[in-house]
Amino acid sequence: MATVALDPRLDSKTSQFISGKHRMLIDGKFVAAASGKTLPVYNPSTGEVMADVPEAEAGDVDRAVRAARRAFDEGPWSQFAANRITASQRGRLLNKLADLMETHLEELAELESMDNGKPLSVARVADVPLAIDLFRYMAGWATKITGNTFPISFPGDFLSYTLREPIGVVGQIIPWNFPLLMAAWKLGPALAAGNTVVLKLAEQTPLSGLRLAELIQEAGFPEGVVNILTGYGEGAGAPLASHDLVDKVAFTGSTEVGKLIVKAATGNLKKVTLELGGKSPAIVFPDADLDKAIAGTASAIFFNHGQCCCAGSRLMVHERVYDQVVEGVSKIADSIRVGSGLDPETQMGPLVSEEQYNRVTGYIDSGLQEGAKATAGGRQKADKGYFVHPTVLTRTTPEMKVVREEIFGPVVCAQPFSDADIDRIAREANDSIYGLAASVWTQNISIANKMARRIRSGTVWINCHNVFDAALPFGGYKQSGWGREMGAEVLNNYTEVKAVTTAL
Ligand code: NAI
Ligand code: MG
Repeated sequence: MATVALDPRLDSKTSQFISGKHRMLIDGKFVAAASGKTLPVYNPSTGEVMADVPEAEAGDVDRAVRAARRAFDEGPWSQFAANRITASQRGRLLNKLADLMETHLEELAELESMDNGKPLSVARVADVPLAIDLFRYMAGWATKITGNTFPISFPGDFLSYTLREPIGVVGQIIPWNFPLLMAAWKLGPALAAGNTVVLKLAEQTPLSGLRLAELIQEAGFPEGVVNILTGYGEGAGAPLASHDLVDKVAFTGSTEVGKLIVKAATGNLKKVTLELGGKSPAIVFPDADLDKAIAGTASAIFFNHGQCCCAGSRLMVHERVYDQVVEGVSKIADSIRVGSGLDPETQMGPLVSEEQYNRVTGYIDSGLQEGAKATAGGRQKADKGYFVHPTVLTRTTPEMKVVREEIFGPVVCAQPFSDADIDRIAREANDSIYGLAASVWTQNISIANKMARRIRSGTVWINCHNVFDAALPFGGYKQSGWGREMGAEVLNNYTEVKAVTTAL
């Protein structure tokens, strides 16, 4: 285990947790990987190893899946066990977990900042509270998942109704951009609906999820109901996605891996939901409130360092206001204070990993080589850590790689449009393999709502971007995914429907 001095600004409890011995949660116990192998966790502000966590492999995944299977089929989470946990108790467990997270909010925020690099000030007001809120929202659903009755017309006298039942054992694989929040998005609805879970955390950011595992134990979830693994994608994610005793796999991450998940799921045709990449347009019309549009479209791309699947990475601006908007967004980009996530002055931390640093700076280089111009940012080397300055690329054209591909960093491509034809603007906005989100900036409600209907994506924001709520469904059209997260909608993705008919 590497022993680097952790930042003195951290609370001692957080430092102790980070430098402590890390274990995965399998069948109600904290365990090492069967092989004894570990993987390193880096501090993205320094590039130094700050912790080691177990490196789960196929055997560990199998152990976790069998525990989840037992808890679902026989254990207290089963619908039929004599000592079964009721829907109301499931709700209370989720609420208890939310309360514990609230008690440890600051610690969870510090872990998130250390692990992902995001500013502590952001983790404190966004990541952790949103995760808590999601658990509370889903806790409420536990007792409200119901079927229907049907007046059927088949000759005779029948009573027909539907039951909405849990799917069974759910495998969940999450990324590193919002580690705790993604865990909540996955665990909350799966558990509220009565499934059992094996969750694999992202190898870059396992710390808040491992702390969450401790809180899950403290809340009193029965053993085997929630299993939390750390490991690499190929080593631990792939065997989870292909496991025959897993009934459903829910994945968030790259579109490339999403396609591998679909293939891995074919063995037993497990259900699949996917929340994948995006290349979301932010479209500014000339009548928009430009101060708000400039601040809003800047935040659309720079929030969380652009490491958001719904980041507004294509800035489309009407030519009449293009110069003004690009200048405004570039000014904001230049003014963003980039630094360590723990520094209270920091507005943007480092990217999550060296891999992402190389990927994002590679895209900036590619854009410049293809003829784009940086009006803010560009490639700037820090002596250590994975810092990339907020970058605005202009003179980009629809064929460029930076315009077509997801960069997943603080890089926006600005393009003017000249048209007044809503359909043509929408066609340009839709010119992407992705369809996750979009924002439209205008004071004209007719244009705003016409655009909202024409854009092919799971979310359209009008005069805002990145507004999330546990009650609102989120997910993608096209190659941005299958199914929805959050809201009542996600419960459809974690339940099966059974039609029961009785001849009376
Ligand atoms: P990734 O898709 O490789 O990783 C996401 C999760 O999938 C991690 O837990 C990883 O361990 C797991 N995984 C990787 N390969 C797997 C496999 N063969 N089978 C099962 N699980 C597997 O994403 P990565 O490499 O971290 O980032 C690459 C790019 O993906 C980013 O630059 C970004 O464009 C995109 N991405 C999109 C996210 C989103 O929220 N939609 C989140 C993270 C990344
Ligand atoms: Mg990957």
